[in-house]
Parts: sequence; structure tokens; C-alpha cells
Amino acid sequence: MSDLDLVAQSIIFIFGGYETTSTTLSFLMYILATHPDIQQKVQEEIDATLPNKVHPTYDALTQMEYLDMVLNETLRLYPVSARIERMCKKDVEVNGVFIPKGTLVMVPRSVLHRDSALWPEPEEFRPERFSKKNKDSINPYMYVPFGIGPRNCIGMRFAMMNMKLAVVRVLQNFSFKPCKETQIPVEIDSPRMIEPRRPIVLKVELRDGTLSGA
Ligand code: HEM
Ligand SMILES: *[C@@H]1O[C@H](CO)[C@@H](O)[C@H](O)[C@H]1NC(C)=O
Ligand SMILES: *[C@@H]1O[C@H](CO)[C@@H](O)[C@H](O)[C@H]1NC(C)=O
Repeated sequence: MSDLDLVAQSIIFIFGGYETTSTTLSFLMYILATHPDIQQKVQEEIDATLPNKVHPTYDALTQMEYLDMVLNETLRLYPVSARIERMCKKDVEVNGVFIPKGTLVMVPRSVLHRDSALWPEPEEFRPERFSKKNKDSINPYMYVPFGIGPRNCIGMRFAMMNMKLAVVRVLQNFSFKPCKETQIPVEIDSPRMIEPRRPIVLKVELRDGTLSGA
């Protein structure tokens, strides 16, 4: 690799990896603050998997099924960038639609993720859509938070693990609540980039007794 290639790859990793992860975590904390029942269930799973607030291990993080469902439902509603793009490499006809070579095809995943034909009451946050019982009925081309195919997100597994680690460490000791500065519902920046228009502000509380004296 040339120096230029190295710099280009590093920049992609920082922008493609850092911003996406932090935006998703912001939305996740907003969701937990505004859905206290779901936050409590996540905390119960964390406490059951990691008694006495021990530091999470890789295996423990992979065991937390509810957290996985909550994260996936967050990425359904807020899939960071709204579209996936592909360049058409040769003339092709798909379902009677002719697409000439050189056409840029954009897949509006934020639309797919909120299509009521696929997701009953799509605006509702429902982790159960991703339960063991329900997840097999999800068409993998209709739920694409990390894209799909040979050029999907190379950081998917790392991103999921990283976000779980962050959430678990914070929720072991703290709970999140809305406060008067919290904008509900959160306003999205633009249809292109799924980001909050203004910073998400929440109140953080120590979990009962966990840090008494600290
Ligand atoms: C919540 C976190 C993330 C989300 C939602 C996300 C989403 C995506 C999406 C939708 C694509 C395009 C896939 C396609 O066109 O089919 C992509 C590509 C990519 N992502 Fe991520 N990503 C995340 C985190 C990361 C992290 C942590 C890294 C690196 C450590 C990363 C590196 C990349 C790279 C290098 C590509 C281009 C892959 C290629 O063109 O072959 N992403 N990501
Ligand atoms: C959640 O998303 C990850 C990454 O897309 C996937 O590997 C996992 O199977 C999903 N979990 C559920 C319960 O659908
Ligand atoms: C959580 O609290 C325990 C003590 O109860 C402490 O040892 C640990 O470092 C805290 N973790 C975080 C991430 O604040």
C-alpha cells in the first residue's frame, strides 16, 4: 500500500467508524431514556449476565440477546445514513425496469426500515421484532443497517461489539432519563443523514445504592 492509500483507509475508518457508532449510541440512549421499561429490561439482563458489576467479557456480551434486539431495533429506526448506493456495471432489466450501465442506483433504506407493509406500526420502538420467534421472518434485503452483499460494512461485528460494551459499562452504574431540555420526539437532521438536528440531552442518575459513598 502507498502512503496515500494508508491515509485514505485511515480516514474512512475514523469517519465511517467513529461517527456512525457515536450517532447510534446517542439514539440508543434517547430511546432508553424515553422507554424506561425497556431500559430496565436491558439492565436486568446485564445484571443477570454480569453479577456484581464485573467487567464485561466478549462471551458475556454475545449472550445478551435482549440488548442485541434493542440495538437492532435502534438501527432500524435510525440507520445513520439513509441510503446505500451501487453503480450499475452493465445494462440490466429488473422486474421490467431497464437500468442502463453507468446508472447510480440508490436504495433508500430509511424508507425500507419504516415500510408499514414490512413492520407493523413502524414508528413504534419494538425490540420484539428481532426476537428468536420473529427474526426469521425479516427479509435480509429489507433490513440493511450495515448494507448487504460483498461490499457491506466491514466493521459490522466490531461496531456491534463496541456499542454493546459501551452500553453495558454505562448501564451497569447509571440510568438515563429525559429532562426539560430533551426534545421529544427527537428531530432528525435531514433525510440524507439520520442524525439528531440538535444534541440529545438527557439526565443521568446513579443506580440505587450502587455507588453509595462514591
Ligand atoms: C453503527 C455503526 C456502523 C454502521 C451503521 C455502518 C454502516 C455502513 C454501511 C451502510 C455501509 C455501506 C454498505 C453497503 O453499501 O452495502 C458501510 C460501509 C463501510 N463501513 Fe460501516 N458502519 C458502522 C461502523 C463501522 C465501523 C466501526 C467501521 C470500521 C472500523 C466501518 C467501516 C466501514 C467501511 C470500511 C465500509 C466500506 C466497505 C466497502 O466498501 O467494502 N463501519 N458501513
Ligand atoms: C442484529 O444485527 C446483527 C448485525 O446486523 C446480526 O448479526 C444479528 O443477528 C441481529 N440480531 C437479531 C436478533 O436479529
Ligand atoms: C461501576 O461501579 C463500580 C463500583 O460499584 C466500579 O468499580 C466501576 O468502575 C464502575 N464502572 C463504571 C463504568 O463506571
